[in-house]
Parts: sequence; C-alpha cells; structure tokens
Amino acid sequence: MTQRPRLSVIGTGYLGATHAVCMVELGFEVIGVDVDHAKIDSLRAGRIPFFEPGLPELLAKHMNSGALRFTTDYAEAAEFADVHFICVGTPQKQGQYAADLTYVESAFRTLAPHLKRRTLVVGKSTVPAGTAVQMEQVLTELAPADGVELAWNPEFLREGFAVEDTLRPDRLVFGVHSDWAEQQLRAAFAPVIESGTPVIVTDFATAELVKVAANSFLATKISFINAMAEVCEATGADVTQLADAIGHDARIGRRFLNAGLGFGGGCLPKDIRAFIARAGELGVDQAVSFLRDVDEINLRRRARTLELGLDLLDGSYRGTRVAVLGAAFKPNSDDVRDSPALDVAAAVGRRGADVVVFDPEANETARKHAPELNYVGSLNEALTGADLVMLLTEWQEFRNMDPQAVSSLVRHQNIVDGRNVLVPAQWRDAGWHYRALGRP
Ligand code: UGA
Repeated sequence: MTQRPRLSVIGTGYLGATHAVCMVELGFEVIGVDVDHAKIDSLRAGRIPFFEPGLPELLAKHMNSGALRFTTDYAEAAEFADVHFICVGTPQKQGQYAADLTYVESAFRTLAPHLKRRTLVVGKSTVPAGTAVQMEQVLTELAPADGVELAWNPEFLREGFAVEDTLRPDRLVFGVHSDWAEQQLRAAFAPVIESGTPVIVTDFATAELVKVAANSFLATKISFINAMAEVCEATGADVTQLADAIGHDARIGRRFLNAGLGFGGGCLPKDIRAFIARAGELGVDQAVSFLRDVDEINLRRRARTLELGLDLLDGSYRGTRVAVLGAAFKPNSDDVRDSPALDVAAAVGRRGADVVVFDPEANETARKHAPELNYVGSLNEALTGADLVMLLTEWQEFRNMDPQAVSSLVRHQNIVDGRNVLVPAQWRDAGWHYRALGRP
C-alpha cells in the first residue's frame, strides 16, 4: 500500500479552497497556495472568502489540526508536497471567446523551478484541449528534478454542493502518461476510490475534453428546454409540464430541464465559448457550431424576461419601482459572474426603473459589479412599494413567499417568475398579474 502523499493546492478560489479543505477531511496533509495575500490571510483566519454551504464548518474543524496550512510561498509548497493540484481560474478573455490561460501558465512556471524531487503536478483547471501537453513541456524545461510528471484531473464540482461533490464525486478522470502518475493519483484519491467512485484512466486530451463536453451537454440541455419554452409561449403550452413529461423518460431525465432565465456563472457560459474558440483552431468549428445557438437561446431568455416585465408595466419601466429577487447566478451561491439575474436587474435599471435588489447572500458581490442598483437587507424591504416583482434566482425564501401575505407590501400586484418556481394559480387567485417564461 502506497503511503499517503502530502498535497499542495495551488489557487484557493472556489475550486482550490474546497479541494484543499476536503482533502484534509479525507485524511491528507495539505498546503494551500495563492498569490493573493488577502485570500491567504482570510483562510488563515478561518474565513472562507466566498459563500459555500458546509465549507466554513469543515475549515473550522481542521484549522488547528496541523494538517492544513496556507501560504503565498511556492517554495514552501514544493518542499512540503508530493502531489501538487493546480486549481487556478481560466476566465473568458476580455472581448473574445477563448479562455485566458495566464493564471494556469503562471502557476506552472512559478512552481516548476522549485520542484527538486520527483513529484506529480495535477492540472484541475478547465482548459482547452492541448493545454496539458504545453504544461508538460513547461515542467520538462523548468523543473530541476528528474521524473517530475504531469496528470490532468478535471473537476466537476457544482457551486452550492462543492463539499459533497468533492468528498463523493460521481467519477474521477485521470489523464496520465505513465503508470507511476496513475499510481500517485490513485494514492491521492485513495479514500474516494475505496468508497466505490468509478475511475476513468485516459490520455491528456480526453481528460481535458471530458470537462468541456460535460459542461457543453449541461448547457445544451438547459437551452433545449428554454427553446421549448419559446415554442410553448407561441402555442399556449406549459414548459414545466412538458419537462416533467419528457423527463420521465429515463433516457432524457428530468434534471437540468428547468426552463427559465437560463444559465450563468463562472463555468457554463465561458466554457462553451472557449470550446467554440478551440474547435475553430482545431478546424472542427462545425462540430460544435450548435453551441452558438445554445448561447443565443440562453441570452434570449434575458431579453424575454425584460419583455414580460414591460407587458405588466404597460410598456415602460421609467419611473417605476421594481423589486428584483436574487442576484446570484443560482441559489446557494454568492457568485454573480455572468449572472442572468444581475444582468436583467441592470437592464431594468438602464430602462429608467428604480431597481431594489435583495439576495440572501450575494448583495455584497453584486454591489461590486452593479453599484448603481439599490440593495436592501430583506425580502420585505425589497417588496415594499414595488410596481413589479421579478423573481430571478430561485432561493428557497422566494419560493416560500405567500402571495396573500406579500400583496399588502407592494404597490401593484405584478410578478414575473423568471425561474418557474411559483404556482401560478395561487398567485392569480390572490389577485396578482403573473407572468412566466414558457407558461401560460
Ligand atoms: C457547473 C457544472 O454543473 C459542474 O459540474 C462543473 O464542475 C462546474 O460548472 C464547473 O465547470 O466548475 P455550476 O456553474 O456551479 O456548475 O452551476 P450549475 O449548477 O451547473 O448551474 C449553472 C447554471 O444553470 C445556473 O445559472 C442555473 O441557474 C442554470 N440552470 C441549471 C438552469 O437554468 N436550469 C437547470 O435546469 C439547471
């Protein structure tokens, strides 16, 4: 039985911080590394610098165990660890579809010169196919020790369920070039593998593609049901019942068939665009051209949501007060990257409405992105005096709203259900004008 390797996690954002803390929970000694001093100071003080259910409790549990520490010093990490996980971000390039690989390259180039003994470096970041081979070259050129190897191990965690997804993933994918690399990875995930998680051992290109293919499929599934929502609107059909009915077919499945305002966040939108860009470079543009439609259908839902609000306000947002419920790209997250909710809120503001936003967790992150909007600390404050209510992120608190009780707070009983989570009859019976995407 191989000894448990000591691990480093480079990049302590959503992915890295979760991976570091969860690997300690699984029994490993871990050092977390980031160039951002503020993030490291926060983690050292026991504070997770973003909202992720369950993660603060796990950090607190292991803070003083001696098994987890954080540093800004790559040399310290190289000295300590046998396996290094690269978990830095790959955002969309400004004004382009392609992924920005600056952080990945920088992490490899900074780490490599410190690798003075045989080690495995594991890429976890979502990257365009072909990146791993380039990073392997960087290690060959810059690492002083012999036998420093690369593996690619894509990550599938969902924000809001990141702890669960890391401790009990659906599958593990190991892109490797040697048996030694595979054995190192098997040792680094031993507790997860022992609990029965399937492992797919493959080459670099397949490992890289598994991740973008999975996210492309999920995005396509969402845009498929949203395309059906457009057809439902033209025919008077109900997309939620349509989704239930087709979802009973086990080959289709009901998950990720929730029609509404569409997908956002730091992953799905930028991953499909980066895939389109990379496929173009590879000469297989046509193979993924449908992803352009997926993106467009998704963005059209935002425009349609604005129209529904406009209908309820008799043609103009100007001078009205609009309560926007939700700013995060999905519930149980404070992430507003490419958030459909915040995008619509800002557009309503630009059309002359007084927009009052409430999100249970994302008010602060949203304020940084859209400082021109008004943020309030409670649902009731947001609703008070509203001419129109727009439910744009399906937090449980919003789903639980009692249409009778909240009607006394608003000025006019108009509601757009941007996530199809309310029961239309209940709202209409309570006197509301109710509109939703893909539903009569
Ligand atoms: C996504 C993938 O689900 C993860 O497997 C992947 O690891 C991650 O990206 C990543 O690449 O790191 P995440 O961005 O956290 O995870 O969010 P999802 O739960 O996938 O939701 C994405 C968006 O789709 C949200 O805006 C959500 O509101 C929307 N959505 C989801 C729908 O509009 N309808 C649905 O039926 C499901």
